[in-house]
Amino acid sequence: MEKPSTAIGILDSGFGGLSVYQSISALLPHESTVYIGDHAYLPYGEKSVHVIQQRMLALIRFLIHKHAKLIVIACNTGTVAGIELYRTTFPDVPIVGVVPVIKTAAALSNRKRFAVLSTKFTAGSAYQKYLIEEFANGCIVHNLWCPNLVPLVEQGVVSGPAVEKELRWILTPKILSDIDVIALGCTHYPFLTAAIRAIVGNDITVLDSGGAVSRQVARILEHNGMKARTKKPTYTFFSTGTGHDYSPIASLLLRQNVHVAYADI
Ligand code: DGL
Repeated sequence: MEKPSTAIGILDSGFGGLSVYQSISALLPHESTVYIGDHAYLPYGEKSVHVIQQRMLALIRFLIHKHAKLIVIACNTGTVAGIELYRTTFPDVPIVGVVPVIKTAAALSNRKRFAVLSTKFTAGSAYQKYLIEEFANGCIVHNLWCPNLVPLVEQGVVSGPAVEKELRWILTPKILSDIDVIALGCTHYPFLTAAIRAIVGNDITVLDSGGAVSRQVARILEHNGMKARTKKPTYTFFSTGTGHDYSPIASLLLRQNVHVAYADI
């Protein structure tokens, strides 16, 4: 008999989606998860829309094969590149995307000026433009991107001089004196929250999308009667990357030992 679909499938270009995995497993501790990072194609932020879409479709297919009952595109870049395409290609599985929380940022900004920090692809996308036009509620939005933060997080470097240099390159004194909220528009960036906080201080609110996405996943599972029936969840991790063992970096980011298996897709 075929095994029923039992896990929440989570995907990203690499290990940024582990920040979303953390939020989901904290809110839904009985749910099993299966994670895949597409290290063979990382970073997505500077790839073409066609490449990103093809990789997303391949990763979703892989997760469905691994019995995912719901898919989380734990990647802003992957989401804005084609969430509707993924939903029409796989109509039987709910697919939840991740985008920066522009509406919340607008609501929390007293100055009516905030920043969104994304990859180059996300910052330049029509989808992000639409989100800002639709949900920024008249606020001035600094739509910023930085090419070098994702590679640092992927090396497990989340603090120190290299991170500080990159952050200061985008979060200039001029920008910081203008805003009171920063929305993180890349799932790698929550791993840098402490480093960002050290630069921006306590007067600027830093928001990520993990909480909103987890609550959306919880709502869909509840609404569709898809909640886990077992209280013994399993957590499995895959990477498409070759060349080195990905387990140490994932373990470092998650602060717990995990094994990352190779997926040949
Ligand atoms: N973590 C991804 C995101 O949320 C993409 C990082 C990348 O591969 O450039 O946008």
